Amino acid sequence: MRWDRRRFVSVLGGASLAWPGALDALARDLASGGAPDDEAFWSFVRGQFLLPPDRIYLNNGTLGPSPRVVVDAVAEHARRVASTFPPGVAWDDVKAATAALVGGEPEGFVFPRNTTEAMSFVANGLDLRPGDEVVTTDHEHIGGLEPWKLATKRREARLIVASLPTPARDAGELADSVWRRVTPATRVVCVSHMTFTTGTLMPVSALARRCADAGIVLAVDGAHPPGMLGIDLAEVGGDFYASSPHKWLLAPQGTGLLYITRAWRERLWPTLASGGWDDLSLGAHRFNHMGTMDESRLAGLLAALEFMQAIGRDRVEARVRYLRDTLEQGLRAIPGVSVATPADEALKGAMVSFAIDGVESADLQRHLSRAADVRTRVIGEYGYGWMRLSTHVYNVPADVERVLELLASAARDGVPA
Ligand SMILES: Cc1ncc(COP(=O)(O)O)c(C=O)c1O
Repeated sequence: MRWDRRRFVSVLGGASLAWPGALDALARDLASGGAPDDEAFWSFVRGQFLLPPDRIYLNNGTLGPSPRVVVDAVAEHARRVASTFPPGVAWDDVKAATAALVGGEPEGFVFPRNTTEAMSFVANGLDLRPGDEVVTTDHEHIGGLEPWKLATKRREARLIVASLPTPARDAGELADSVWRRVTPATRVVCVSHMTFTTGTLMPVSALARRCADAGIVLAVDGAHPPGMLGIDLAEVGGDFYASSPHKWLLAPQGTGLLYITRAWRERLWPTLASGGWDDLSLGAHRFNHMGTMDESRLAGLLAALEFMQAIGRDRVEARVRYLRDTLEQGLRAIPGVSVATPADEALKGAMVSFAIDGVESADLQRHLSRAADVRTRVIGEYGYGWMRLSTHVYNVPADVERVLELLASAARDGVPA
């Protein structure tokens, strides 16, 4: 079913809702322009956010700040619930709007709270047996990884950790480093679509083909690409795709996504059992039966998807790559900086990770925050010690220039411990 906001709004009695009107106005204002360096266009976009004017927020990879229209949609929905006029969830519309932005079949979408919950549904829902192997990598986030640690421990299966080259030179090298660990006992491969450590795009489609040929399940931790890159889940491939729209899709905190491909909608065991869990005619929707939940986040998700559509997927991707490129080129020009993100544009998106010789990233993080209210992420996991910076649609070139100045002086003079 095609997503049609006008129909959705009329179902809800939309005349009293403020956010659809605000989105219409936004869509008109954003109809033209939007080249990656069209600063008038992008400063208008920046004006749609509640970010304090002086904050340089470069940590979208952890949590995306919602634009005003999303916050309003959540508040309006919550107000309706509080006035005991619960509008409910227009499931068909949420699914259709999601499919319109990230591809896939609308009926395959489930909306848990985050990637962690989505991946838990997958890991707990498969019948792993003693001796089965689950292959993953040394660049996975706990959100995508721990569900497999739990499932393998409980089922006496084995978790196999492939080591990824860093920085990677090409997709073949990345695919081979995972595939080298596959054996006849492998039941599942679980990798990130884009690693949280270095922002490396993994060759998921190539792995999907190899897994399909070998009868292995591919579960993808897609916390980052939706909302950052113009993806189509049908092309990405794999069996399951878990994501967190509260990152790059700028949806409310606590909004997750799980895409279940057709072959699994009737086969995966539900982790949460509510009415209908065993009604196979419901397909993937069985997993949306979670008991009473915060429905306002789904109203916010709809507004966020609309906001992204108003800007346009291609314009978003081109802009976030443009900003990351400026940042990355600047970083590579600073003596003492080593970049852990691949050089090849095809292997990355809007995140870049690096280290400065002789400077602890945690000290650098504190220094940047004090000096110019810069928000960053330190990748302390696995002992890597990189700093990661993310660029999104609300960032402007002045953010990048200021941070590069601070990093150049940190590389030259050090930072207070
Ligand atoms: C690659 C990756 N997977 C999973 C997660 C966990 O996301 P959530 O906390 O939304 O479950 C993150 C969070 O940063 C991540 O970067």
